[in-house]
Amino acid sequence: METILHTLDAGILTLTINRPDKLNALNSQVLAELDTTIKDVYINPAIHGVIITGAGPKSFVAGADITEFSGLSKEQAFLLARKGQDIFSFIEQCPKPVIAAVNGFALGGGCELALACHIRIASSNARFGQPEVNLGLIPGYGGTQRLTRLVGKGLAMEWILSGNLVDAAEAHRTGLVNHVTAPESLLSTATTLLQTILSKSPTAVSRSIQAIHAAFDKTEAEGFEREAELFSDCAGSEEMMEGVAAFIEKRKPAFRK
Ligand code: COA
Repeated sequence: METILHTLDAGILTLTINRPDKLNALNSQVLAELDTTIKDVYINPAIHGVIITGAGPKSFVAGADITEFSGLSKEQAFLLARKGQDIFSFIEQCPKPVIAAVNGFALGGGCELALACHIRIASSNARFGQPEVNLGLIPGYGGTQRLTRLVGKGLAMEWILSGNLVDAAEAHRTGLVNHVTAPESLLSTATTLLQTILSKSPTAVSRSIQAIHAAFDKTEAEGFEREAELFSDCAGSEEMMEGVAAFIEKRKPAFRK
């Protein structure tokens, strides 16, 4: 792959979007490579969790590649938005945990990429925004939906309508990111959190992700039903037996063989 660097260490795949001279803007090649990569994450047993970050000190991803927008027809724009939405939904629905380590600008498609990840950690120099209104566009890779669900309608309206950027402290205060770190601690903070998650029952982690998503795409009653199904799915598994036995025997559970 040319535009995404892969590092696999102890089950953690770190993906680095690697176009630093273009602030890691998402051109069609990055999108295609992201699509291939995330599909591999689903099926590759060596990958237990993912960190997504950007190359260089300045930018996570500064948006879709604007140079590819010239001459975009309405039909092409619709298909492009659907393609981006599908890839980001694949990230969101991934049964393995995905953390965005936001190391600078997360604008437009970059903010949408971070929003599709399960958890966001930002360096203190991160800046978030959906500045598409400056281009005569709206967010097209899920931003109007995911930002609204994460921070609420009022803030999403303000940020998307004004195109204003939000710094790391405001992103933290509003729940857009879970933690803010010094730039030099960003990857270690993301790795430590992911290691904690990966030490838990993989089945329980993946079912938790599914159950939490149900809070957004189902009614509350349907969400309770889904939670019960997923709870029952975990019951009686080797992992549950190991977790319960470890508690009784006063030792740490070993979920991965
Ligand atoms: N698409 C394509 N190229 C981009 C880009 C994008 N979204 N964002 C940045 N770049 C390119 C710039 O064109 C520039 O390339 P060049 O050196 O060949 O001219 C390079 O990345 C560096 O960006 P530059 O604008 O010089 O950096 P800056 O520090 O002055 O400004 C930003 C940083 C992020 C404020 C500015 O690049 C910007 O506004 N980018 C677009 C953000 C955006 O609208 N994203 C949503 C797209 S839908």
